Amino acid sequence: KWTPGAFVDLTVEELKQKIGNDKVVLGLSGGVDSTVAAMLLHKAIGDKLYCIFVNNGLLRKNEFTDVLAQYKDMGLNVKGVDASKRFLDALAGVSDPEQKRKAIGRVFIEVFDDEAHKIKDVTYLAQGTIYPDVIESVSVNGPSVTIKSHHNVGGLPDFMKLKIVEPLRMLFKDEVRRVGAEIGIAKQLLGRHPFPGPGLAIRILGDITAEKVRILQEVDAIFIEGLREWDLYDKVWQAGAILLPINSVGVMGDERTYEQVVALRAVESTDGMTADWVNLPYEFLQKTSNKIINRVKGVNRVVYDISSKPPATIEWE
Ligand code: XMP
Repeated sequence: KWTPGAFVDLTVEELKQKIGNDKVVLGLSGGVDSTVAAMLLHKAIGDKLYCIFVNNGLLRKNEFTDVLAQYKDMGLNVKGVDASKRFLDALAGVSDPEQKRKAIGRVFIEVFDDEAHKIKDVTYLAQGTIYPDVIESVSVNGPSVTIKSHHNVGGLPDFMKLKIVEPLRMLFKDEVRRVGAEIGIAKQLLGRHPFPGPGLAIRILGDITAEKVRILQEVDAIFIEGLREWDLYDKVWQAGAILLPINSVGVMGDERTYEQVVALRAVESTDGMTADWVNLPYEFLQKTSNKIINRVKGVNRVVYDISSKPPATIEWE
């Protein structure tokens, strides 16, 4: 019978044998998979594991700083790289969803390759690939975790020529969470909702600017904090906010406003392949909407997405 304890003992032993005194580089995303993979490797080889956590400027509010601090507390040898500007520059004027994904994937590879080059004599590239990624049913891992081959137009970057280690490749998501709990990773981190690799870029419909990212981060933070306060966070599989590319008329005092609309989305799912919108309490929606409109300058209307997948997807892009 599979148990997380036995898996950890066996895997750590195997990693020690396999890697010996060599160096390993790994990209952390803030998600469950890359974190658990990193902690297993850390147990096996300590500081010979070099973690890189890239801020693409499209993460949730305060996520980069908070998660980087958590990684350090966990004892990981991690370098935080703030490449926000590089990503935003590459995204300037890009509205097509697939072009956004391509631009983000390309810049990620450039940034990661630059960083990997700064570590002398690396032998292995570790990835948080899990079994569903291997069989390619659905991947909720973005380029920051699972590097997909179609990103390499024009030859492989050097880090992709490294030998691969994937300690989670035989595990399902729930098993990864159990392994994470076994090795002492905080419950809050393990229970996090999935978050797409391209981040807020695919939740800002149309082109992306630093100001739009800031607005969406504020809205998203109010929504997610509210879910936690109302004890709804763990009942939802994934939640987030979408910034719509339209303005709508409103009133504030005696003044007419003409500002942006945001949509809130919360779904129940087991694997992301199908999903139902969540019947959130009206009172929660009412309070959240008020908070958003009162606190976030530039937004005067909030709508709730009541579409299920299929035919609607979870993300709007
Ligand atoms: P959809 O929108 O296809 O999303 O119903 C299903 C799940 O996949 C995530 N998603 C992505 N994850 N890179 C990712 O890493 C992407 O480009 C991407 N697009 C969608 C989405 O957040 C949901 O969990």
